[in-house]
Amino acid sequence: MHDRPTMLREAAAILAENDRGTYTVPTHGLYPFQWNWDSCLSALGLAHLDEDRAWTEIETLFAHQWDDGMVPHIVFHVADDGYFPGPDVWGTDRAVPTSGITQPPVAGFAVSRLFDRATDRAAAAERAARLLPAITRWHEWFLACRDPKSTGLVAIIHPWESGRDNSVDWDAAFDRVPTDGVAPFTRRDTMHANPEHRPTQAQYERYIWLVQLFRSLGWDNGKLHDASPFQVVDPGFNAILIRSCADVAELARKLGLGDLAARNAAMAAKGAAALETLWNARLGQYVCLDRVTGRLIDSPSVGGLLAAFAPLPAHRAQALAARVRALSENITYTVPSHDPDAPEFDTRRYWRGPVWLIVNYMIADGLRAAGQTAVADRIVDDSLRLIRTGGFAEYYDPMSGAPCGGGRFTWTAAMVMEFLAQDGVVQS
Ligand code: DGY
Repeated sequence: MHDRPTMLREAAAILAENDRGTYTVPTHGLYPFQWNWDSCLSALGLAHLDEDRAWTEIETLFAHQWDDGMVPHIVFHVADDGYFPGPDVWGTDRAVPTSGITQPPVAGFAVSRLFDRATDRAAAAERAARLLPAITRWHEWFLACRDPKSTGLVAIIHPWESGRDNSVDWDAAFDRVPTDGVAPFTRRDTMHANPEHRPTQAQYERYIWLVQLFRSLGWDNGKLHDASPFQVVDPGFNAILIRSCADVAELARKLGLGDLAARNAAMAAKGAAALETLWNARLGQYVCLDRVTGRLIDSPSVGGLLAAFAPLPAHRAQALAARVRALSENITYTVPSHDPDAPEFDTRRYWRGPVWLIVNYMIADGLRAAGQTAVADRIVDDSLRLIRTGGFAEYYDPMSGAPCGGGRFTWTAAMVMEFLAQDGVVQS
């Protein structure tokens, strides 16, 4: 699969195969429902094929927004016992079941990108105007429920919320999460994917303990943040929120929605100022904060590089570009999800080393906007080389390019369409 038309055709085939009409599944088998940030990023790929369908993807997700403003990380549209934990474990008691936690808020960014590229301007303006109040409610929910002391930065209360489920970043904080009271369960992920590429059993028991705790509190978001022994401020997650707030502010201005523009602009400005408190000068990147101990977490992961997705001061973007360059020296494919020189680095285990194309896309996008073109180009080139080496996988070994996790992955296909379009390639 070396030539671009073939890659585009294959990407389109994967998007079609994982399309369930009004939403896409991330991949057949391993993830049989709608995932929040998967959907929003996949919509960017769908838009290259069918703009109307791309908007529908995000509208379907927001049709399941909770009354308090949260947009859940999974919508269980259909019954499928091939996934654990299913609706019975979450027990959120909704007509169409959902999980009870959230995921990185890329929707604001995605909607603004769909709008900017739309060929049917009137339809896009109408659909964006309908989505923006709901997206703003979600942004404000974050500040109310995940930043109760109004610091400008939000915490995740479950590793799954970050999307980077088993990152080294969480290890110390996650050690505080007990496992007592967790009944034996059967994992399904390891039946679909190589167990060596997935989180460990010990991590799964803690994931489930947290779900049980939140369920016992009736999924009341007024209580969950303070009750969770796991509260981590992730620079990547916050950068996504800041970027989405900034993009929604700009889009709302274009649409004449002044109030929404002002509210989102204020959130973006406050978050951007607070992000500075996560800078680690020794590493030359941002790091996480453990909100329970009040201490920065000395873990060189891609979460700190993903901060490049937010509008940053030029010297910070430059430093992150230098950091990506340095990290890339001893690997074949950038950007690794953890520093290859760190003892915890693992080339194949999910978020402890492998390369993810969605993260590459967001880092490259931010660095390019900041004028760091050479590093952005390297990231895009490496991403496309990975497709040639390993096909459209969930993630990749940064040394060998071997495909890891699930196969024929929707957001990987979507990112390839984006990379090739940025490359000036006309869709065949
Ligand atoms: C999983 O099941 O692996 C997901 O990442 C949780 O959303």
